[in-house]
Amino acid sequence: MSKSALITGITGQDGSYLSELLLSKGYTVHGLVRRSSSFNTSRLDHIYADPHEAGRRLVLHYGDLTDSTGLRRVIEKARPDEIYNLGAQSHVKVSFENPEYTADADATGTLRLLDCMRDHVEHIGREVRFYQAGSSEMFGAAPPPQNEKTAFYPRSPYAVSKVAGYWYAVNYREAYNLFIANGILFNHESPRRGETFVTRKITRAIGRIKSGLQDKLFLGNLEAKRDWGFAGDYVEGMWRMLQQNEPGDFVMATGEAYSIREFLAEAFGCVDLDWRKYVVIDPRYFRPTEVDFLLGDATKARKTLGWTPTVSFRRLVRMMVDHDLQLAE
Ligand code: NAP
Ligand code: GDD
Repeated sequence: MSKSALITGITGQDGSYLSELLLSKGYTVHGLVRRSSSFNTSRLDHIYADPHEAGRRLVLHYGDLTDSTGLRRVIEKARPDEIYNLGAQSHVKVSFENPEYTADADATGTLRLLDCMRDHVEHIGREVRFYQAGSSEMFGAAPPPQNEKTAFYPRSPYAVSKVAGYWYAVNYREAYNLFIANGILFNHESPRRGETFVTRKITRAIGRIKSGLQDKLFLGNLEAKRDWGFAGDYVEGMWRMLQQNEPGDFVMATGEAYSIREFLAEAFGCVDLDWRKYVVIDPRYFRPTEVDFLLGDATKARKTLGWTPTVSFRRLVRMMVDHDLQLAE
């Protein structure tokens, strides 16, 4: 029998790569989609299957992490072997503006889903495995390099909510003997990255500048450093976490960090432009509390999961710039 997985956040960057991966492994993939007044499934267009198609392996369900009743219903329908909780209000700056909603979706939403799974497992009497999308933001102000033993020091409502999600996951694992893994993922990007995250904002602007559609790029703090990898590599790690004999918590990172300034130089360098002629600092993009330096130590993932990132920083930047040049054209 082929396996079945449920993905919350399936319409997001990671959800789309994870769906491709699981479909390629023969899974039936169920995804939770938020109701929106316009289509929000564009990242899934290439794998979308019409509900009228017989034997389709991608099944979408309306639902929301703020609505337990719906979550229960979707779990009962999907009967998943694995649940990947990727759904979240994932923008750090937005979390300062919508803190309560962020906590509801990211922290309490995780609790709701865990609790639905707990009842479902008891009801069906077989194991279901759960992946929780934790974040390097949970380390916040803790000095680099950060690994599984580093104490959390969250610096935004988003990060605090992810710390809560992490501990709910640990607690449900210990209290009810459930297979639950926390991924602690450092930043990962791709051509499918949301347009308001800094890497994509930059590469999208480059495409538009080259096409004459834009001549300025407004940014905030250029000094922060991030450990940026490729999203396609990271979803492979999520899957591997759920294939282990024992559940655990894993950092996933490249082990290299660059500042936003360095990202700008690399990305504008791809098209032989000097970023300083285009970038304007706008304080509206500063955060009330910043995370200055994230650099991950993924030794445990390498040793236990055999996971290593395959895409270098330079290749990642090039991939995103090339994509956005084409898009702008
Ligand atoms: P993303 O592109 O922002 O996708 C987030 C997904 O969550 C979207 O499908 C979104 O739906 C959905 N969502 C938002 N609020 C929801 C709600 N109330 N109920 C149900 N679904 C909801 O994020 P991503 O980059 O793919 O990241 C995936 C997960 O990993 C997130 O939990 C994020 O916090 C975490 N994470 C990401 C990174 C990273 O660098 N990418 C690093 C560490 C952890 P819509 O499409 O309708 O908005
Ligand atoms: N978004 C954004 N927009 N960030 C900017 C800008 C700007 O105009 N200018 C400078 N930055 C700086 C931010 O202040 C931050 O230090 C850095 O660029 C990265 O910001 P984001 O790309 O928004 O990502 P993030 O690191 O805050 O959060 C992402 O990574 C986390 C993992 O560490 C998100 O994907 C989170 O969901 C994820 O958990």
